[in-house]
Amino acid sequence: MQADMKSGHALRCIACGAEFGRAGAEFRCPRCGDLLEVVYPAWAASEAQTLVWASRLKQTWWERKLSRHGEDASGVWRFRELLPHLPDWRGIITLREGNTPVFELPRCARSAGVDLLLAKHQGMNPTGSFKDTGMTVAISIARQEGFSWVACASTGNTSASMAAYAAHGGLRSLVLIPQGKISWGKLSQALDYGALTCQLGTDFDGCLRILTELVRRHPIYLLNSINPYRLEGQKTAALELLEQLDWQVPEHIIVPGGNLGNCSALGKGLEELRTLGLIEFLPKLSVIQAQGANALVRTLRETGGQRLVPVQAETAATAIRIGNPVSWKKAVRVLQSTGGRCEQVSEAEIAIAKAEIGSDGVGCEPASAVTLAGLKKLVRQGFVHHHERVVLILTGHLLKDPEYTLKFHRRELLPEIAEDERRRLDPYRRAPLEVEPNVESVLRVLEEAEKTHATE
Ligand code: F0G
Repeated sequence: MQADMKSGHALRCIACGAEFGRAGAEFRCPRCGDLLEVVYPAWAASEAQTLVWASRLKQTWWERKLSRHGEDASGVWRFRELLPHLPDWRGIITLREGNTPVFELPRCARSAGVDLLLAKHQGMNPTGSFKDTGMTVAISIARQEGFSWVACASTGNTSASMAAYAAHGGLRSLVLIPQGKISWGKLSQALDYGALTCQLGTDFDGCLRILTELVRRHPIYLLNSINPYRLEGQKTAALELLEQLDWQVPEHIIVPGGNLGNCSALGKGLEELRTLGLIEFLPKLSVIQAQGANALVRTLRETGGQRLVPVQAETAATAIRIGNPVSWKKAVRVLQSTGGRCEQVSEAEIAIAKAEIGSDGVGCEPASAVTLAGLKKLVRQGFVHHHERVVLILTGHLLKDPEYTLKFHRRELLPEIAEDERRRLDPYRRAPLEVEPNVESVLRVLEEAEKTHATE
């Protein structure tokens, strides 16, 4: 069954409201230079019509789970009524993205002081991060518009994702990354998928500045999250999550903040679900940043969200080492409309939270762990109550940054932190033991471990 809803779309400037059929190379408003967002004028319908759509959509999306067609098997394109209309659905570039699991995190729940804690693991996407959900949409549009080259600046995950989708769709890709500041796992993906990879002696913000200039001078399609089609794909994680929760809205969703595209996308998805009558109220969507990359925290505290306060970013959670976030205005809007909070967490808090998520058998990369560290703060502040349902959005897979994990367990991570913080980390560390190659030695280790476990 098809839900008979048209998704004819326009691009609208978030500041001056001007609407356009197509974007220029930089994806900024040609009139005032601000960000663009995708809007669907056809959705302005009567309340009765909206209710009909809501029940049809839920059923259509559910039925597509039984289909083997690429556009139905994708956890993004399954929700295509809420995505830009493509002339040819069969021409999409898909790696069966989305369809990511929701896990319970019982140990983390106890540690944070909530009764039930869920994690939607976007790191279970084909290239190991949430970027795939947005990439499939934007890169499919790039190919249908006739581009042969695509490009992005990245802290690693966008480049890995873009390179994979470009290779899969027969396009060429250019990656600009900050030299020495992205994890090896992510770099190796871009290389294997065949991207033209340039390491620049600058940070992410510098790479993005150079790319913005480059797309003005060369016909190459920009795939950073300033491209509003990326956010359309990423918003489907909110749709999928609500479907997984039987459309019962959780009180809180917590997401990491870097360039602030993802929180903007999830917020947009939630608002559209409400507009279309699929949910009745919005969860509070909170954004957590690393203390060393806290541009949004400072923007809200120092200007009330009126003016961006850029920072010189530094954090071992390299995915969110961003000081000049492009989508800050969209993020402020989402925080205001959902009533969420923005918090920052220290490097030690991130390391502990990451080890805790690992100890629930789930694991994630450091940037994702800010969500649990932030939740602990929000509980202490009384913003999150123990009986409320909380969902963390884990954005990247544990294996994205094995170096961070190994350094943590080998006591090599964060050499400069204070002694009392170091003592807080120690109980979470599990360095590999060097053991003589015989059964007695291994038995001794096992018995020792059983004793310690009994006293824990
Ligand atoms: N978590 C992970 C694992 C990321 O890779 C990123 C961003 C974020 C969180 C933050 O999301 O930027 O939408 O606020 N990574 C980008 C990249 C910047 O290039 O891979 P955001």
